[in-house]
Amino acid sequence: MTVEETVETLEARAAAALPALLARAYARYSNFTVAAAVIDEAGEVHLGVNVENAAYPSGTCAEQTAIGAMVTAGARRISKVLIAAGSNAVVQPCGACRQRIAEFATEGCEIVSVQDGAPTKRVAFWDLLPESFGPRDLAR
Ligand code: THU
Repeated sequence: MTVEETVETLEARAAAALPALLARAYARYSNFTVAAAVIDEAGEVHLGVNVENAAYPSGTCAEQTAIGAMVTAGARRISKVLIAAGSNAVVQPCGACRQRIAEFATEGCEIVSVQDGAPTKRVAFWDLLPESFGPRDLAR
């Protein structure tokens, strides 16, 4: 298997895991379930779902949950974020999640939309958040 095939298989496997994960989302207020998989630079997959709260702004997005899982596992670089919605529509990360992804995104980081458990749309992450503020700004 080539490196490209291995990466594709990993992405396909992560995508296939998302529909079942949607059932674990805690979306009792919006009923809009979201599941995300973050793939780190080492090829490990970290999963997350949205976790809403009766105090609405305290809810968290699926991407945020998955990033927390990645950091907790000791990884620090995001190669891909896969996103699936219970509505089965293509969903891109919200503004706040773009900032959270930016903190850890590799140069070639991709956002991959998942529908029916398969990747359908691919966007270069930095096209979604150009000219952003990040760790480098604090290092100056
Ligand atoms: N949501 C996510 O989890 N990720 C997204 O990319 C978009 C929105 C969640 C937040 C909230 O729980 C619900 O979807 C409706 O906005």
